[in-house]
Amino acid sequence: MPDRVLTNHDIAQMVDTSDEWIYSRTGIHQRRIAGERETTATMAFEAAARALAVADLHPSQLDLVIVATSTPEYIFPSTASRVQDYLGAKKAGAFDLSAACSGFVYALNMASQAIQSGSVRNVVVIGSETMSRVVDWTDRATCILFGDGAGAVVLKGSEVPGGLLATIMRSDGSGGDLLRLPAVYHNPVPTLGPEYLGNGHKDNTIAMHGRQIFRFASEVVQSSIVEVAKQANLGLDDIDLIVPHQANSRILEHAAKKLKMPLEKFYSNLEWTGNTSAASIPIALSEAADSGRLQPDNNVIFVGFGGGLTWASAAVKWDVTPPEVSTLDREWKRTRYMVARGRSRWRKWRRRVGARIAGSPTPDARLKDADRRDEE
Ligand code: ACO
Repeated sequence: MPDRVLTNHDIAQMVDTSDEWIYSRTGIHQRRIAGERETTATMAFEAAARALAVADLHPSQLDLVIVATSTPEYIFPSTASRVQDYLGAKKAGAFDLSAACSGFVYALNMASQAIQSGSVRNVVVIGSETMSRVVDWTDRATCILFGDGAGAVVLKGSEVPGGLLATIMRSDGSGGDLLRLPAVYHNPVPTLGPEYLGNGHKDNTIAMHGRQIFRFASEVVQSSIVEVAKQANLGLDDIDLIVPHQANSRILEHAAKKLKMPLEKFYSNLEWTGNTSAASIPIALSEAADSGRLQPDNNVIFVGFGGGLTWASAAVKWDVTPPEVSTLDREWKRTRYMVARGRSRWRKWRRRVGARIAGSPTPDARLKDADRRDEE
Protein backbone atom coordinates (compact mmCIF):
# COMPACT_ATOMS: atom_id res chain seq x y z
CA MET A 1 0.00 0.00 0.00
CA PRO A 2 1.27 3.50 -0.72
CA ASP A 3 2.23 5.66 2.31
CA ARG A 4 0.00 8.60 1.55
CA VAL A 5 -3.29 8.51 3.49
CA LEU A 6 -6.41 10.35 2.29
CA THR A 7 -9.10 10.56 4.97
CA ASN A 8 -12.79 11.30 4.57
CA HIS A 9 -12.09 14.67 6.20
CA ASP A 10 -9.56 15.42 3.44
CA ILE A 11 -12.19 14.57 0.80
CA ALA A 12 -14.72 16.81 2.56
CA GLN A 13 -12.34 19.70 1.75
CA MET A 14 -12.65 18.86 -1.94
CA VAL A 15 -16.35 18.02 -2.45
CA ASP A 16 -19.59 18.54 -0.53
CA THR A 17 -19.56 15.48 1.75
CA SER A 18 -18.70 14.44 5.32
CA ASP A 19 -16.92 11.67 7.20
CA GLU A 20 -20.26 10.69 8.75
CA TRP A 21 -21.99 10.34 5.35
CA ILE A 22 -19.15 8.33 3.79
CA TYR A 23 -18.58 6.02 6.76
CA SER A 24 -22.26 5.28 7.36
CA ARG A 25 -22.92 4.50 3.65
CA THR A 26 -19.72 2.62 2.84
CA GLY A 27 -17.71 1.66 5.95
CA ILE A 28 -14.69 3.59 4.62
CA HIS A 29 -12.66 5.99 6.81
CA GLN A 30 -9.58 6.40 4.70
CA ARG A 31 -7.74 5.12 1.65
CA ARG A 32 -4.14 5.17 0.35
CA ILE A 33 -3.08 7.25 -2.64
CA ALA A 34 -0.09 6.44 -4.88
CA GLY A 35 2.80 8.87 -4.68
CA GLU A 36 4.27 10.69 -7.66
CA ARG A 37 6.81 7.95 -8.33
CA GLU A 38 4.43 5.06 -7.70
CA THR A 39 2.56 3.43 -10.56
CA THR A 40 0.43 0.35 -11.06
CA ALA A 41 3.59 -1.42 -12.31
CA THR A 42 5.87 -0.38 -9.42
CA MET A 43 3.29 -1.37 -6.80
CA ALA A 44 2.67 -4.66 -8.62
CA PHE A 45 6.42 -5.32 -8.61
CA GLU A 46 6.67 -4.60 -4.84
CA ALA A 47 3.80 -6.98 -4.09
CA ALA A 48 5.21 -9.70 -6.36
CA ALA A 49 8.72 -9.39 -4.88
CA ARG A 50 7.33 -9.80 -1.36
CA ALA A 51 5.16 -12.76 -2.36
CA LEU A 52 8.17 -14.46 -3.97
CA ALA A 53 10.17 -13.94 -0.77
CA VAL A 54 7.40 -15.54 1.33
CA ALA A 55 7.09 -18.41 -1.16
CA ASP A 56 10.90 -18.77 -1.17
CA LEU A 57 10.92 -18.82 -4.97
CA HIS A 58 13.56 -17.28 -7.24
CA PRO A 59 12.13 -15.09 -10.05
CA SER A 60 13.92 -17.26 -12.62
CA GLN A 61 11.64 -20.15 -11.50
CA LEU A 62 8.53 -18.25 -12.56
CA ASP A 63 6.72 -19.44 -15.69
CA LEU A 64 4.01 -16.80 -15.81
CA VAL A 65 3.20 -13.33 -14.48
CA ILE A 66 -0.46 -12.23 -14.57
CA VAL A 67 -1.51 -8.74 -13.50
CA ALA A 68 -5.21 -8.09 -12.97
CA THR A 69 -5.73 -4.36 -13.39
CA SER A 70 -8.04 -1.72 -14.84
CA THR A 71 -5.49 1.05 -14.42
CA PRO A 72 -2.43 0.09 -16.48
CA GLU A 73 -0.14 2.95 -17.52
CA TYR A 74 -0.10 1.43 -20.98
CA ILE A 75 -2.40 -0.90 -22.87
CA PHE A 76 0.88 -2.20 -24.24
CA PRO A 77 3.42 -2.92 -22.96
CA SER A 78 1.32 -4.75 -20.41
CA THR A 79 1.90 -4.06 -16.73
CA ALA A 80 2.76 -7.75 -16.40
CA SER A 81 5.60 -7.46 -18.93
CA ARG A 82 7.04 -4.53 -17.02
CA VAL A 83 6.82 -6.47 -13.75
CA GLN A 84 8.46 -9.48 -15.42
CA ASP A 85 11.33 -7.18 -16.41
CA TYR A 86 11.64 -5.57 -12.95
CA LEU A 87 11.69 -9.02 -11.35
CA GLY A 88 14.19 -10.41 -13.83
CA ALA A 89 11.83 -13.36 -14.41
CA LYS A 90 13.75 -14.44 -17.50
CA LYS A 91 11.72 -17.53 -18.33
CA ALA A 92 8.22 -16.15 -17.68
CA GLY A 93 5.41 -15.19 -20.01
CA ALA A 94 3.36 -12.16 -18.95
CA PHE A 95 -0.06 -10.68 -19.60
CA ASP A 96 -2.63 -8.33 -18.07
CA LEU A 97 -6.15 -9.44 -17.34
CA SER A 98 -9.05 -7.02 -17.45
CA ALA A 99 -12.18 -7.99 -15.49
CA ALA A 100 -12.51 -4.91 -13.25
CA CYS A 101 -12.87 -5.79 -9.57
CA SER A 102 -13.32 -9.49 -10.38
CA GLY A 103 -9.93 -9.51 -12.12
CA PHE A 104 -7.93 -11.14 -9.34
CA VAL A 105 -10.28 -14.12 -9.00
CA TYR A 106 -10.42 -14.51 -12.80
CA ALA A 107 -6.59 -14.46 -12.86
CA LEU A 108 -6.36 -17.08 -10.10
CA ASN A 109 -8.60 -19.31 -12.16
CA MET A 110 -6.47 -18.83 -15.31
CA ALA A 111 -3.25 -19.52 -13.37
CA SER A 112 -4.67 -22.62 -11.75
CA GLN A 113 -5.96 -24.01 -15.07
CA ALA A 114 -2.55 -23.43 -16.66
CA ILE A 115 -0.84 -25.26 -13.81
CA GLN A 116 -3.31 -28.15 -13.94
CA SER A 117 -2.83 -28.51 -17.69
CA GLY A 118 0.89 -28.97 -17.06
CA SER A 119 1.94 -26.06 -19.28
CA VAL A 120 3.37 -24.06 -16.35
CA ARG A 121 4.42 -24.79 -12.78
CA ASN A 122 4.98 -21.51 -10.91
CA VAL A 123 2.82 -18.43 -11.44
CA VAL A 124 2.61 -15.06 -9.72
CA VAL A 125 -0.87 -13.51 -9.77
CA ILE A 126 -1.04 -9.81 -8.92
CA GLY A 127 -3.87 -7.33 -8.46
CA SER A 128 -2.65 -3.74 -8.73
CA GLU A 129 -4.51 -0.45 -9.15
CA THR A 130 -4.02 3.29 -9.12
CA MET A 131 -7.71 4.15 -8.96
CA SER A 132 -6.88 7.69 -7.78
CA ARG A 133 -5.73 8.45 -11.34
CA VAL A 134 -9.05 7.51 -12.96
CA VAL A 135 -11.43 8.98 -10.40
CA ASP A 136 -13.26 12.22 -11.12
CA TRP A 137 -12.29 14.17 -7.99
CA THR A 138 -15.26 16.50 -8.47
CA ASP A 139 -17.80 13.63 -8.40
CA ARG A 140 -18.70 13.01 -4.76
CA ALA A 141 -20.64 9.84 -5.60
CA THR A 142 -17.50 8.00 -6.80
CA CYS A 143 -14.38 9.77 -5.49
CA ILE A 144 -15.17 8.74 -1.91
CA LEU A 145 -14.96 5.05 -2.73
CA PHE A 146 -11.61 4.26 -4.28
CA GLY A 147 -7.99 3.83 -3.20
CA ASP A 148 -4.65 2.55 -4.52
CA GLY A 149 -2.58 -0.54 -3.74
CA ALA A 150 -1.37 -3.95 -4.86
CA GLY A 151 -1.33 -7.53 -3.61
CA ALA A 152 0.09 -10.77 -4.98
CA VAL A 153 0.07 -14.52 -4.52
CA VAL A 154 2.38 -17.23 -5.81
CA LEU A 155 0.77 -20.41 -7.12
CA LYS A 156 2.89 -23.56 -7.31
CA GLY A 157 1.93 -26.87 -8.89
CA SER A 158 1.84 -29.71 -6.36
CA GLU A 159 0.81 -33.35 -6.17
CA VAL A 160 -0.79 -32.80 -2.76
CA PRO A 161 -4.58 -32.37 -2.98
CA GLY A 162 -5.83 -28.98 -1.83
CA GLY A 163 -5.08 -25.43 -2.94
CA LEU A 164 -7.64 -24.09 -5.39
CA LEU A 165 -10.63 -26.45 -5.10
CA ALA A 166 -13.23 -24.80 -7.34
CA THR A 167 -13.83 -21.58 -9.22
CA ILE A 168 -16.70 -19.89 -11.03
CA MET A 169 -16.59 -16.95 -13.46
CA ARG A 170 -19.59 -15.04 -14.79
CA SER A 171 -20.35 -11.96 -16.87
CA ASP A 172 -23.45 -10.00 -17.82
CA GLY A 173 -22.44 -7.45 -20.45
CA SER A 174 -25.94 -6.02 -20.61
CA GLY A 175 -25.08 -4.17 -17.38
CA GLY A 176 -21.89 -2.70 -18.80
CA ASP A 177 -23.29 0.82 -18.76
CA LEU A 178 -23.66 0.76 -14.95
CA LEU A 179 -19.96 1.07 -14.27
CA ARG A 180 -17.59 2.40 -16.91
CA LEU A 181 -14.01 3.50 -17.38
CA PRO A 182 -13.47 4.49 -21.04
CA ALA A 183 -10.13 3.81 -22.73
CA VAL A 184 -9.94 4.06 -26.53
CA TYR A 185 -12.95 6.09 -27.51
CA HIS A 186 -14.80 5.20 -30.68
CA ASN A 187 -15.87 8.28 -32.60
CA PRO A 188 -16.37 7.32 -36.23
CA VAL A 189 -15.54 9.89 -38.90
CA PRO A 190 -16.01 9.33 -42.64
CA THR A 191 -12.37 9.65 -43.71
CA LEU A 192 -9.02 9.06 -42.17
CA GLY A 193 -6.33 11.67 -42.61
CA PRO A 194 -4.10 14.11 -40.80
CA GLU A 195 -7.14 15.93 -39.40
CA TYR A 196 -8.56 12.65 -37.98
CA LEU A 197 -8.59 12.87 -34.20
CA GLY A 198 -11.46 10.46 -33.61
CA ASN A 199 -9.64 7.91 -31.50
CA GLY A 200 -8.24 8.86 -28.19
CA HIS A 201 -8.35 8.39 -24.48
CA LYS A 202 -11.26 10.65 -23.70
CA ASP A 203 -13.38 11.00 -20.58
CA ASN A 204 -10.93 8.73 -18.85
CA THR A 205 -12.68 8.68 -15.47
CA ILE A 206 -15.05 6.31 -13.71
CA ALA A 207 -18.81 6.74 -14.12
CA MET A 208 -21.09 4.61 -11.96
CA HIS A 209 -24.74 4.00 -11.21
CA GLY A 210 -24.20 3.40 -7.46
CA ARG A 211 -27.63 2.13 -6.48
CA GLN A 212 -27.84 -0.45 -9.28
CA ILE A 213 -24.29 -1.66 -8.68
CA PHE A 214 -25.16 -2.03 -5.02
CA ARG A 215 -28.19 -4.17 -5.87
CA PHE A 216 -26.24 -6.31 -8.36
CA ALA A 217 -23.34 -6.83 -5.92
CA SER A 218 -25.55 -7.75 -2.98
CA GLU A 219 -27.16 -10.47 -5.08
CA VAL A 220 -24.08 -12.03 -6.71
CA VAL A 221 -21.92 -12.09 -3.58
CA GLN A 222 -24.24 -14.52 -1.85
CA SER A 223 -25.16 -16.57 -4.93
CA SER A 224 -21.56 -17.08 -6.03
CA ILE A 225 -20.46 -18.10 -2.52
CA VAL A 226 -23.19 -20.76 -2.46
CA GLU A 227 -22.33 -21.94 -5.98
CA VAL A 228 -18.58 -22.28 -5.49
CA ALA A 229 -18.95 -23.91 -2.05
CA LYS A 230 -21.24 -26.50 -3.59
CA GLN A 231 -18.77 -27.15 -6.41
CA ALA A 232 -16.02 -27.68 -3.84
CA ASN A 233 -18.27 -30.03 -1.80
CA LEU A 234 -18.28 -27.64 1.14
CA GLY A 235 -21.26 -26.78 3.29
CA LEU A 236 -21.56 -23.16 4.40
CA ASP A 237 -20.55 -24.30 7.91
CA ASP A 238 -17.28 -25.67 6.52
CA ILE A 239 -16.21 -22.21 5.37
CA ASP A 240 -13.73 -20.67 7.80
CA LEU A 241 -13.25 -17.32 6.09
CA ILE A 242 -14.60 -15.33 3.16
CA VAL A 243 -12.27 -12.76 1.60
CA PRO A 244 -14.58 -10.64 -0.53
CA HIS A 245 -13.88 -7.72 -2.83
CA GLN A 246 -13.82 -4.67 -0.56
CA ALA A 247 -16.38 -2.29 -2.07
CA ASN A 248 -18.92 -1.44 0.61
CA SER A 249 -19.42 -2.90 4.09
CA ARG A 250 -23.20 -2.81 3.62
CA ILE A 251 -22.87 -5.22 0.68
CA LEU A 252 -21.08 -7.67 3.00
CA GLU A 253 -23.66 -7.19 5.77
CA HIS A 254 -26.42 -7.91 3.28
CA ALA A 255 -24.71 -11.12 2.06
CA ALA A 256 -23.98 -12.34 5.61
CA LYS A 257 -27.61 -11.84 6.55
CA LYS A 258 -28.94 -13.63 3.48
CA LEU A 259 -26.56 -16.56 4.00
CA LYS A 260 -27.27 -16.60 7.75
CA MET A 261 -23.52 -16.49 8.37
CA PRO A 262 -21.81 -14.44 11.09
CA LEU A 263 -20.44 -11.19 9.65
CA GLU A 264 -17.07 -11.99 11.31
CA LYS A 265 -16.54 -14.66 8.65
CA PHE A 266 -16.32 -11.88 6.03
CA TYR A 267 -12.85 -10.39 6.24
CA SER A 268 -12.90 -6.64 5.83
CA ASN A 269 -10.20 -3.98 5.83
CA LEU A 270 -12.28 -1.54 3.81
CA GLU A 271 -12.18 1.01 6.60
CA TRP A 272 -8.49 1.69 5.93
CA THR A 273 -8.13 0.85 2.25
CA GLY A 274 -11.27 1.93 0.39
CA ASN A 275 -12.05 0.05 -2.79
CA THR A 276 -8.80 -0.91 -4.55
CA SER A 277 -10.61 -2.83 -7.31
CA ALA A 278 -8.61 -5.88 -8.51
CA ALA A 279 -6.08 -5.35 -5.69
CA SER A 280 -8.58 -5.54 -2.84
CA ILE A 281 -8.80 -9.33 -2.42
CA PRO A 282 -5.04 -10.05 -2.42
CA ILE A 283 -4.42 -7.12 -0.05
CA ALA A 284 -7.10 -8.38 2.35
CA LEU A 285 -5.88 -11.97 1.98
CA SER A 286 -2.32 -11.04 2.83
CA GLU A 287 -3.52 -9.11 5.87
CA ALA A 288 -5.67 -12.06 7.00
CA ALA A 289 -2.72 -14.46 6.62
CA ASP A 290 -0.24 -12.14 8.40
CA SER A 291 -2.60 -11.49 11.31
CA GLY A 292 -3.25 -15.20 11.88
CA ARG A 293 -6.89 -14.87 10.89
CA LEU A 294 -6.21 -17.48 8.23
CA GLN A 295 -4.78 -20.78 9.50
CA PRO A 296 -3.42 -23.85 7.68
CA ASP A 297 -6.22 -26.16 6.53
CA ASN A 298 -8.84 -23.41 6.61
CA ASN A 299 -11.43 -23.35 3.83
CA VAL A 300 -11.46 -19.86 2.38
CA ILE A 301 -13.67 -18.34 -0.30
CA PHE A 302 -12.71 -15.38 -2.48
CA VAL A 303 -15.52 -13.49 -4.14
CA GLY A 304 -15.11 -10.62 -6.61
CA PHE A 305 -17.65 -8.49 -8.49
CA GLY A 306 -17.58 -5.35 -10.56
CA GLY A 307 -17.61 -3.67 -13.95
CA GLY A 308 -18.53 -5.72 -17.00
CA LEU A 309 -20.63 -6.67 -15.22
CA THR A 310 -18.44 -9.50 -13.96
CA TRP A 311 -18.33 -11.67 -10.88
CA ALA A 312 -16.25 -14.65 -9.80
CA SER A 313 -15.52 -16.79 -6.78
CA ALA A 314 -12.96 -19.36 -5.72
CA ALA A 315 -12.84 -21.96 -2.95
CA VAL A 316 -9.37 -22.59 -1.55
CA LYS A 317 -7.92 -25.00 0.98
CA TRP A 318 -5.37 -22.76 2.67
CA ASP A 319 -2.52 -25.24 3.07
CA VAL A 320 0.14 -22.56 3.20
CA THR A 321 2.72 -22.52 5.96
CA PRO A 322 5.28 -20.03 4.73
CA PRO A 323 8.90 -20.65 5.72
CA GLU A 324 10.53 -18.22 8.15
CA VAL A 325 12.57 -15.73 6.14
CA SER A 326 14.98 -13.60 8.18
CA THR A 327 15.17 -9.85 7.53
CA LEU A 328 18.79 -10.25 6.46
CA ASP A 329 17.85 -12.96 3.99
CA ARG A 330 15.01 -10.82 2.64
CA GLU A 331 17.31 -7.81 2.18
CA TRP A 332 19.91 -9.97 0.51
CA LYS A 333 17.26 -11.34 -1.84
CA ARG A 334 16.25 -7.82 -2.83
CA THR A 335 19.69 -7.17 -4.33
CA ARG A 336 18.69 -9.53 -7.13
CA TYR A 337 16.25 -6.86 -8.32
CA MET A 338 19.10 -4.36 -8.72
CA VAL A 339 20.84 -6.95 -10.84
CA ALA A 340 17.59 -7.35 -12.84
CA ARG A 341 17.43 -3.56 -13.43
CA GLY A 342 21.06 -3.62 -14.57
CA ARG A 343 20.36 -6.51 -16.93
CA SER A 344 17.32 -4.74 -18.35
CA ARG A 345 19.29 -1.52 -18.97
CA TRP A 346 22.07 -3.48 -20.60
CA ARG A 347 19.59 -5.17 -22.97
CA LYS A 348 18.04 -1.81 -23.81
CA TRP A 349 21.45 -0.26 -24.48
CA ARG A 350 22.51 -3.22 -26.65
CA ARG A 351 19.29 -2.91 -28.66
CA ARG A 352 19.88 0.81 -29.23
CA VAL A 353 23.49 0.35 -30.30
CA GLY A 354 22.37 -2.46 -32.62
CA ALA A 355 19.73 -0.19 -34.13
CA ARG A 356 22.22 2.64 -34.65
CA ILE A 357 24.70 0.32 -36.35
CA ALA A 358 21.89 -0.95 -38.59
CA GLY A 359 21.09 2.70 -39.46
CA SER A 360 17.57 2.72 -37.94
CA PRO A 361 16.12 6.19 -37.36
CA THR A 362 16.29 7.44 -33.74
CA PRO A 363 13.04 6.94 -31.80
CA ASP A 364 10.57 9.79 -31.94
CA ALA A 365 10.27 12.32 -29.10
CA ARG A 366 7.16 10.70 -27.60
CA LEU A 367 8.86 7.34 -27.22
CA LYS A 368 11.93 8.98 -25.68
CA ASP A 369 9.74 10.91 -23.27
CA ALA A 370 7.85 7.78 -22.15
CA ASP A 371 11.17 6.00 -21.73
CA ARG A 372 12.56 8.77 -19.54
CA ARG A 373 9.47 8.74 -17.33
CA ASP A 374 9.66 4.95 -16.93
CA GLU A 375 13.32 5.14 -15.96
CA GLU A 376 12.49 7.77 -13.31
N1 ACO B 1 -21.75 12.85 0.28
C1 ACO B 1 -22.99 13.35 0.56
N2 ACO B 1 -24.06 13.09 -0.20
C2 ACO B 1 -23.90 12.28 -1.28
C3 ACO B 1 -22.64 11.74 -1.62
C4 ACO B 1 -21.55 12.06 -0.80
N3 ACO B 1 -20.31 11.59 -1.03
N4 ACO B 1 -22.79 10.99 -2.74
C5 ACO B 1 -24.08 11.04 -3.09
N5 ACO B 1 -24.74 11.84 -2.21
C6 ACO B 1 -26.16 12.18 -2.22
C7 ACO B 1 -26.76 12.12 -3.58
O1 ACO B 1 -26.56 13.32 -4.29
C8 ACO B 1 -28.22 11.88 -3.26
O2 ACO B 1 -28.79 13.10 -2.91
P1 ACO B 1 -30.33 13.43 -3.36
O3 ACO B 1 -31.16 12.38 -2.68
O4 ACO B 1 -30.52 14.80 -2.84
O5 ACO B 1 -30.32 13.32 -4.86
C9 ACO B 1 -28.17 11.01 -1.99
O6 ACO B 1 -26.85 11.22 -1.43
C10 ACO B 1 -28.36 9.54 -2.25
O7 ACO B 1 -27.52 9.17 -3.36
P2 ACO B 1 -27.34 7.67 -3.81
O8 ACO B 1 -26.34 7.59 -4.91
O9 ACO B 1 -28.68 7.08 -4.06
O10 ACO B 1 -26.73 7.06 -2.46
P3 ACO B 1 -26.60 5.58 -1.99
O11 ACO B 1 -27.27 5.39 -0.71
O12 ACO B 1 -26.93 4.62 -3.07
O13 ACO B 1 -25.03 5.45 -1.69
C11 ACO B 1 -23.05 4.64 -2.77
C12 ACO B 1 -24.12 5.72 -2.73
C13 ACO B 1 -22.28 4.66 -1.45
C14 ACO B 1 -22.10 4.91 -3.93
C15 ACO B 1 -23.75 3.27 -2.92
O14 ACO B 1 -24.69 3.32 -3.95
C16 ACO B 1 -22.78 2.18 -3.21
O15 ACO B 1 -21.89 1.90 -2.43
N6 ACO B 1 -22.96 1.49 -4.35
C17 ACO B 1 -22.10 0.41 -4.74
C18 ACO B 1 -20.89 1.01 -5.30
C19 ACO B 1 -19.80 0.01 -5.48
O16 ACO B 1 -19.61 -0.85 -4.66
N7 ACO B 1 -19.08 0.18 -6.58
C20 ACO B 1 -17.97 -0.56 -6.87
C21 ACO B 1 -18.27 -2.00 -7.21
S1 ACO B 1 -17.36 -2.58 -8.51
C22 ACO B 1 -15.90 -1.93 -8.44
O17 ACO B 1 -15.35 -2.01 -7.37
C23 ACO B 1 -15.28 -1.19 -9.60
